[in-house]
Amino acid sequence: MFAPHTLKDRVAFITGGAGDIGFDIAQAYGRMGAKVVIASRNEERLKKAEAELQAQGIEATAFVTDVRNFDQVKRSIDDTVAKYGALDILVNNAAGNFHCPTAGLTPNGWKTVIDIDLNGTFYGCLAAYEHLKQSTHGGNIISIITMLGVMGWPGAAHAAAAKAGILSLSRTLAVEWGGDNIRVNTISPGPIGDTEGVKRMYLDTGRGELEQKKTALGRFGAKADIANAAVYLASDLAAYTTGDNLVVDGGRWLKYVAN
Ligand code: COA
Repeated sequence: MFAPHTLKDRVAFITGGAGDIGFDIAQAYGRMGAKVVIASRNEERLKKAEAELQAQGIEATAFVTDVRNFDQVKRSIDDTVAKYGALDILVNNAAGNFHCPTAGLTPNGWKTVIDIDLNGTFYGCLAAYEHLKQSTHGGNIISIITMLGVMGWPGAAHAAAAKAGILSLSRTLAVEWGGDNIRVNTISPGPIGDTEGVKRMYLDTGRGELEQKKTALGRFGAKADIANAAVYLASDLAAYTTGDNLVVDGGRWLKYVAN
């Protein structure tokens, strides 16, 4: 596995870092020696997560941030650099989603998810760029998407379109910012058990068993599977990897194509 110094002296900013996959990424980064900043909307949840990380001996800070607001994102990222002296890793993990067949989706429902997922990711990249350029380790952007953005996602057209947009944005930035020594990659998780996303999209809609069967491995993944992928991409072990989409989905999309 990774050594405890794998991310030593790096500073990571993780949106949606208070819960689910974002918290596990923050925890994994912290255990590998990084200083972590978690940014989310809900102050109570954020403070609880910050305290949990600190109790593990992790250097962690929480900044209340709505990723739909560029000024807030910029302020939180600038405050991160003011506090820790650098920014090396940006993880765009914050996401909003709800199940709704497209004919019943209101323009505001569509816009809300696009604002959180796609615009929020763009705001993070833009606000982080000048700082990532200065990183002595090389800057790093990792965005959490899903292969459902590529395959189509009935009942979640807003999230699917946003995630496809993030994939395209990431590939563009990998080329535009490669000369600045910034690597830009995405991770595509499959259904990860014990997350709000799986609860909302699959368990609450009675599709839990079916969705497990849809994966080649026949089961939900764990949050640690995604955190491990995020450590790898942020580390020097992935020094020559940029513009990649690391699929960690138990073979779901391949099974979809194969069947
Ligand atoms: N079905 C249909 N429309 C819905 C909906 C649902 N289940 N939930 C929200 N909407 C619509 C609302 O009706 C509203 O549109 P309208 O003004 O035309 O009526 C619009 O979406 C915004 O809803 P609102 O509740 O004001 O947004 P919010 O900013 O408080 O919440 C969400 C954002 C909608 C994404 C909410 O689900 C959320 O906070 N999710 C965060 C957690 C999450 O989604 N995690 C899973 C990540 S995979």
